[in-house]
Amino acid sequence: MRALELFSGVGGWRCALGGRGQVLAAYDVNEAANDTYALNHGDRPRPRELAAVPAQALAAHGADTWLMSPPCQPFCRMGNHQGLEDPRSRAFRHLMDVFREAPPQQVVLENVVGFLGSDAHALFLKCIRAHGMQQLDLEACPSRFGLPNQRPRVYVVASRQPLRPLPRPDLPPRPLSEFLDADPEPELFLSPATFERHWRGMDLVVPEDRRSTCFIGGYGRRFVGSGSFLKTRDGARRFSPTEIARLHGLPDGFHFPPELPLEVRYRLLGNGLSIPVAAWALDHLRDR
Ligand SMILES: C[S@@+](CC[C@H](N)C(=O)[O-])C[C@H]1O[C@@H](n2cnc3c(N)ncnc32)[C@H](O)[C@@H]1O
Repeated sequence: MRALELFSGVGGWRCALGGRGQVLAAYDVNEAANDTYALNHGDRPRPRELAAVPAQALAAHGADTWLMSPPCQPFCRMGNHQGLEDPRSRAFRHLMDVFREAPPQQVVLENVVGFLGSDAHALFLKCIRAHGMQQLDLEACPSRFGLPNQRPRVYVVASRQPLRPLPRPDLPPRPLSEFLDADPEPELFLSPATFERHWRGMDLVVPEDRRSTCFIGGYGRRFVGSGSFLKTRDGARRFSPTEIARLHGLPDGFHFPPELPLEVRYRLLGNGLSIPVAAWALDHLRDR
């Protein structure tokens, strides 16, 4: 696969792609994401507003595959449900225009489950089918891939070649203890007053548990519905960004620029992919 990674974030698609191919170019407007991407993958994504990148510029990369994770807020359970009307869908709409002009051989899109049945999903299917592509809508969660984390997502896989249907894995989640830092930073611990104020709404887990809730971008700031908190002998604490990266299946050496604040790290991870699930979605594409 010769891929374009669109809305590249910290490069989850690139990790999932592994030896299946190479990323010819990545695009993202967020500088913190691009710094992290460059640190981990060597190449720096183009810091371009995708709504303004002309079809010829994208076609010039000579890619046969698009891997993309458009912003999910227009389709989120807690979002405004404006779909294509949301200004954050402008780049996706533009990419669908580009697709009509210069379609790749195959495309894989990741988003929240609310994307299914949305107007954006309908537009995507229309473009795919107009080019005679086959398509599968896959719903999957890392908790079925051996990871103790809930992150249900949809992957729309489309190709001009026949697709390869695969069973969804059903591996038991490993205990959280396998994903924890040996020496957690003191800043992760909640003060007794903070814990007392919020514990009733928090999702609390212990290291022996085999589950955690979905970590979202606001994890550093919010206590309810933003991800699980860990109860330890030394008190309750947030999961560290490194622990969340492990729960997302990012490679062991994955790291952030040292100056990047904790909140920003959580925000980037909250946008991210579960790597084994994304890799499974890619496995539905046959070798070409
Ligand atoms: C859902 S996240 C994708 C995360 C990515 N898959 C990863 O592994 O980290 C969406 C990304 O798209 C970027 N983005 C949003 N709107 C954009 C636009 N109009 N042009 C370029 N990048 C955009 C955001 O900065 C964000 O990093």
